[in-house]
Amino acid sequence: MISVIAGNSSEEIAKKLSKKLNGNLIKTEIRIFPDGESKITLKGKISKDKIIVVQSIFPPVDSNLFQALSLISKAREYSSEVVIVVPYLGYARQDREFLPGEIVSMKVLGQLFKGVGASKIIVVDIHSKIGLKLFRIKSENVTAIPDLVGYFKKLNLKNPLVISPDQGGKQRAKEFADEYKSEFLALKKQRDRKTGKVQIKTENLDEVQGRDLVIVDDMISTGGSIIKATEFLKKQKCKRIFVACTHALLIDDAEKKIRKAGVAKIISTNTIPGKTSIVDVSNTIAKAIE
Ligand code: R5P
Repeated sequence: MISVIAGNSSEEIAKKLSKKLNGNLIKTEIRIFPDGESKITLKGKISKDKIIVVQSIFPPVDSNLFQALSLISKAREYSSEVVIVVPYLGYARQDREFLPGEIVSMKVLGQLFKGVGASKIIVVDIHSKIGLKLFRIKSENVTAIPDLVGYFKKLNLKNPLVISPDQGGKQRAKEFADEYKSEFLALKKQRDRKTGKVQIKTENLDEVQGRDLVIVDDMISTGGSIIKATEFLKKQKCKRIFVACTHALLIDDAEKKIRKAGVAKIISTNTIPGKTSIVDVSNTIAKAIE
């Protein structure tokens, strides 16, 4: 029987996955000591068959990463087949040396997962596929786009247009639009690599006038990208703006700022639990495991 170990950050998805896979759910108990160390205790008996460890790596990123590594290491004592499911993989944006001297953290992550004994990693809508190529274990990226589109179909928007806030997300917006049976376009965004500040470089866009828009992105962190895109699109006299993203980190008051900029609704998946995380990706992950 498959054992599904529910990391502290992904209890809900682990529970759903275990049910879908007819697995044996193992919960974990976490105690964080005053100095920040995590003490992790497994609650349940692991069998020697395949083991799935489920742990998203969102803030506190390094603590959740350490817990993922510890759970894999423990699972490896029982089975040689340990699959780590990381619904949201923090560090995925650090997949190359953008400025001289920068550490490519994704490479380090790959070394760590292999080192503790993971045989395969499954992630959802990774920022770019380049990062996974740095891993020396089997890897698979599954997409939540059909799940998100399923939600939007129920909203019955009239003649909606799908927008990517940047050229890097063009393929993602295309996939969304193909599934949604709509048109799409990608804005030109520029980010200052030192300050992180974002600017939209696209000029006039008559196509958006009077239309409902769905901005599609892999993730929202500070909200800077979505806010800049929204401000620009509002100036182009669009109708309502919706946001669809897989991973909503929504750091600090990002959600409030996005809504203030004029976004009607943010829809995200449960790779990161939160107020906007209404689309469930456990079915999609389960299919990749089966
Ligand atoms: C960048 O290319 C990503 O796809 C996201 O657009 C970005 O990381 C979101 O970050 P923030 O919300 O801080 O702009």
